[in-house]
Amino acid sequence: MEEIKFYYGENIPLELHKVRVVQKLHLVPIERRLIALEEGGYNTFRLTTNDVFLDMLTDSGTNAMSDNQLAAMMRADDAYAGSQSFFRLQKAVEDVLGKKYYLPVHQGRAAENILSNAYIRKGSLIPMNYHFTTTMAHITQYGGKIAELLYDEGYVIDSAHPFKGNMNIEKLEETIKTHGAKNIPFIRMEASTNLIGGQPFSVQNLRDVRTIADKYKIRLVLDASLLGENAYLVHLREEEFKESSLGEIIKIMTDLADIVYFSARKLSSSRGGGICTNDHDVYQELEALIPLFEGFLTYGGISVREIESMAVGLYETLDETMIRQSPDFIAYLVNSLDAHGVPMVKPAGVLGAHVNAMDICDHIPQKEYPAGALAAALYLISGIRGMERGTLSNQRDEYGNETLADMELVRLAVPRRVFTLSQIKYVVDRMAWLYENRKLIGGLRFVYEPPVLRFFMGGLEPVNDWPQKLIAKFKEDFGESL
Ligand code: F0G
Repeated sequence: MEEIKFYYGENIPLELHKVRVVQKLHLVPIERRLIALEEGGYNTFRLTTNDVFLDMLTDSGTNAMSDNQLAAMMRADDAYAGSQSFFRLQKAVEDVLGKKYYLPVHQGRAAENILSNAYIRKGSLIPMNYHFTTTMAHITQYGGKIAELLYDEGYVIDSAHPFKGNMNIEKLEETIKTHGAKNIPFIRMEASTNLIGGQPFSVQNLRDVRTIADKYKIRLVLDASLLGENAYLVHLREEEFKESSLGEIIKIMTDLADIVYFSARKLSSSRGGGICTNDHDVYQELEALIPLFEGFLTYGGISVREIESMAVGLYETLDETMIRQSPDFIAYLVNSLDAHGVPMVKPAGVLGAHVNAMDICDHIPQKEYPAGALAAALYLISGIRGMERGTLSNQRDEYGNETLADMELVRLAVPRRVFTLSQIKYVVDRMAWLYENRKLIGGLRFVYEPPVLRFFMGGLEPVNDWPQKLIAKFKEDFGESL
């Protein structure tokens, strides 16, 4: 991959695209931001974009689309069955992911629903490097349990380990021996493990998992939603792949899995999702579920326009200038905040920069959701919308007790080719200020707690008047600035 050096030694990521369509943003005053927070139950999911300046909630469905993706949408072949758009997508899946059977679904969690419906029974156990919220919700919904098998260094927030998303191979074998291979319908590996800070696994680790899967005749499922970025970090960090292209690394990884599923909202900067395999038995086991839950087999609940943009987007994941933009900006953001002393998940991963709320808000008990509180506080003082990834995002256990998260993170997503470097510098400025004033942040408590995936629509309130104190300090330091 090419490097671009600056003569005067500056080390910043350079955009290798130009912006041809723009959307005006609104940075509303802090008084309005307080009202927006109150209206949204101190939950950043419930803010409306009119009140948000930099939307760093997620990269899901928010990556910038390319001119070629938009152009492809115009030639969509509208048909309930047998659309040519579908066949173009099927070919893209085969070319990029190396799987000849492709089942379309409307987004990533729909793939999880189909796989869970087909394979999870009461008593099933799914070993995985780490869970994702929707994955766990579907597995438990069908009566299964999960076993998270990271190495200890995966949980070390400030680390230099290049592959914190690796699965602990010894623990995997132990788990299989304890629970019995017959109760383990599949092993799941998540590329760029989302909830621990977008941390990748190495190809070698995936090979080792494959060896165990073969030994016990268990299928290996790869969640490829963030596969392009995982491949980029493999290229940067795994010696064997220094000279490999993204396409080669992606193929090596998908070849190791029996089933690959993905959210196209991430993988191909579009909408939609899919499950793909070269195993005809698997295809047949899943086929009937697509019309039941999603739609006919040649659209799967995805609009044909999106099917076209997905096909082009899949090919574009092979373009390193596209894939590296977000991880390079994230590395810049993480390193800049680190230089201000802000505790961050390190090394920088993919999807976003992850701020360590457990450390920043160590004065807030986990039961008062320090990461949720930090996300609310950051929005209040900046209009930046991040996402809580901590105890609030966890489910209660079967007895209704809180399950305290391993990590309390605020994720600042950096969708592909959406933000400029000056916007990232604004994030650094406001987050660093908030860090200096962190003791002014207080906890949150639920006023409305939905039983499933509570973080999406739940409503909270501050435990005392800390937002007013934070506003007063903001006014003192920034005067009338927005
Ligand atoms: N798997 C991973 C690793 C994900 O990150 C996501 C979504 C899904 C599955 C589910 O896909 O949203 O299309 O249904 N992650 C989003 C996020 C929601 O914000 O990180 P989906």
